[in-house]
Amino acid sequence: MTTSRPQPTAPFTIGVETAEALDKSDPLAHLRSEFRIPRGANGEPQIYLVGNSLGAVPTRTADYVNAELERWAELGVAGHFTGETAWEPYHELLTDQMSAIVGGHNDEVVVMNSLTVNLHLLMVSFYDPTPARHKILIEEHAFPSDHFAVESQIRQRGFDPEISLVTVSPRPDSHRIEPEDILAAIAEHGDALAMILLPGVQYYTGQVLPLPEITRAGHAVGAKVGFDLAHAVGNIELDLHDWGVDFAAWCTYKYLNSGPGGVGGAFVHNRHIADKNLNKLLGWWGARKDTRFEMATVYEAIPTVESWQLSNAPVLAMAALRASLDVVDEAGGIGALRQKTERQIPYFDFLLDEVLGSRIENVTPNALSERGCQFALRVADNSFVGRDVYEQLEAADVACDWRYPDVIRVAPVPLYNTFTDIHRFVTILDGLLT
Ligand SMILES: Cc1ncc(COP(=O)(O)O)c(C=O)c1O
Repeated sequence: MTTSRPQPTAPFTIGVETAEALDKSDPLAHLRSEFRIPRGANGEPQIYLVGNSLGAVPTRTADYVNAELERWAELGVAGHFTGETAWEPYHELLTDQMSAIVGGHNDEVVVMNSLTVNLHLLMVSFYDPTPARHKILIEEHAFPSDHFAVESQIRQRGFDPEISLVTVSPRPDSHRIEPEDILAAIAEHGDALAMILLPGVQYYTGQVLPLPEITRAGHAVGAKVGFDLAHAVGNIELDLHDWGVDFAAWCTYKYLNSGPGGVGGAFVHNRHIADKNLNKLLGWWGARKDTRFEMATVYEAIPTVESWQLSNAPVLAMAALRASLDVVDEAGGIGALRQKTERQIPYFDFLLDEVLGSRIENVTPNALSERGCQFALRVADNSFVGRDVYEQLEAADVACDWRYPDVIRVAPVPLYNTFTDIHRFVTILDGLLT
């Protein structure tokens, strides 16, 4: 994996005319009008660079949600079984598109619940500790929810997180987790390692981890391998089935624009689906569909990952997600989005270098293969306070976010952010740091 900075694909200049020319030749430029970009105090669209937290709303979302509200008003309970968007199998409407985005087969991918809930459900199945093999490897700076979830799973099984929770961290004075350190940690804990839970894209730095290598290394020591794809799904290309990943979970309110608290997703590799020895928490929505309403209490699992479902589908939240997935399809899928990201990264890098120079440090790794669309920027000029600069950006109608201790996260999202957004952001930041 190279760590050299990606080379610009065009002779960029720092003038806005380069941004405008890049927007003109962008094959996805028309998609911006498919979104409502929040407006700032001056009534103009904000520079909305915070899809890493909450994606912008597609204009069509209201129609998709209203259609189901209307069906509810017209049909009442019959809406569960009537029409092309009948609610009982509503989640199935999302499976093709979601499978394509994560590189899973249709029997391996289900939209359900929310991210932390899905992580728990999957750990119930894939964390099966014994006195000899009980450790879980996570990153030291894991997203707190993942850390809490793992700790509580360890305690639930009667083990001690002080002993069973092991971590891998960036080296001193670095933010990047060295892939070789992850592989070394896997080898070190070897026979004692029951499970690995790592992010696809690290939430703070935006670093993409080498998921296929981690999966292979985990399996080589006999561990189960799962990923939290919150910052990866809709951002980078994934191939969960072919990589042999055991399980994964994600949210959809970031790069998949499903709205606040939007419904999550889960992947279980199909080699595990028929395994009756896996522990599982059960609910009626995981049991055979054809006999569900016979109300039998003998459980027969759906022969797909849908057997991890517990409850009937939150249709209004799923309608919002369908709207956004249709826009992703119109973009040409995740491959087309990634191609735009690979055009936006070198342009953004160029402006950061040429305009901001040593005043800003980008802690996101340099290599394209190790980054998605998120940039993690630190104010490196000590005459300014990073948090103050972030607040001034917000006051200037730049939507971005701050993550302690000292990073401003900005994410040009290929579905709706323009090259001009990137140029305006850098120009405003330059003004604040002068
Ligand atoms: C990496 C990561 N993991 C877990 C979560 C928690 O997600 P949820 O509240 O949907 O369970 C988030 C939320 O942003 C996240 O970024």
